[in-house]
Amino acid sequence: MTGMTVTEVRGAGKQKGYTQHYRGAEYTVNLIQKLKLEIVVAEADVDRIVEAIATAARTGEIGDGKIFLSPVLDAIRIRTGERGGEAV
Ligand SMILES: Nc1ncnc2c1ncn2[C@@H]1O[C@H](COP(=O)(O)OP(=O)(O)OP(=O)(O)O)[C@@H](O)[C@H]1O
Ligand SMILES: [Mg+2]
Repeated sequence: MTGMTVTEVRGAGKQKGYTQHYRGAEYTVNLIQKLKLEIVVAEADVDRIVEAIATAARTGEIGDGKIFLSPVLDAIRIRTGERGGEAV
């Protein structure tokens, strides 16, 4: 793995946020701050990388996060014009 993108995002999973109490009033925070990692890798490395992320991120508590896998059609390194695996 040679690169990644980290973005500060807000999101919710199954719990749809959480409930807070402030000065007697109850309100729901629907979107919780999360970090989103985007990592493009060779298909042969996917299982190993998924396992590494899951092992590092797992506390066993709700909100540990999710890993979504999606195909990437192509990649181009603009500076050199390389494509596909060469560009990653
Ligand atoms: N179905 C989904 N689609 C898009 N993003 C999602 C989805 N589920 C979770 N996320 C994103 O992942 C983040 C973390 O989700 P979270 O780990 O709380 O999932 P969960 O389904 O509630 O599982 P858990 O019960 O372990 O909390 C969410 O804040 C949201 O940004
Ligand atoms: Mg959750």
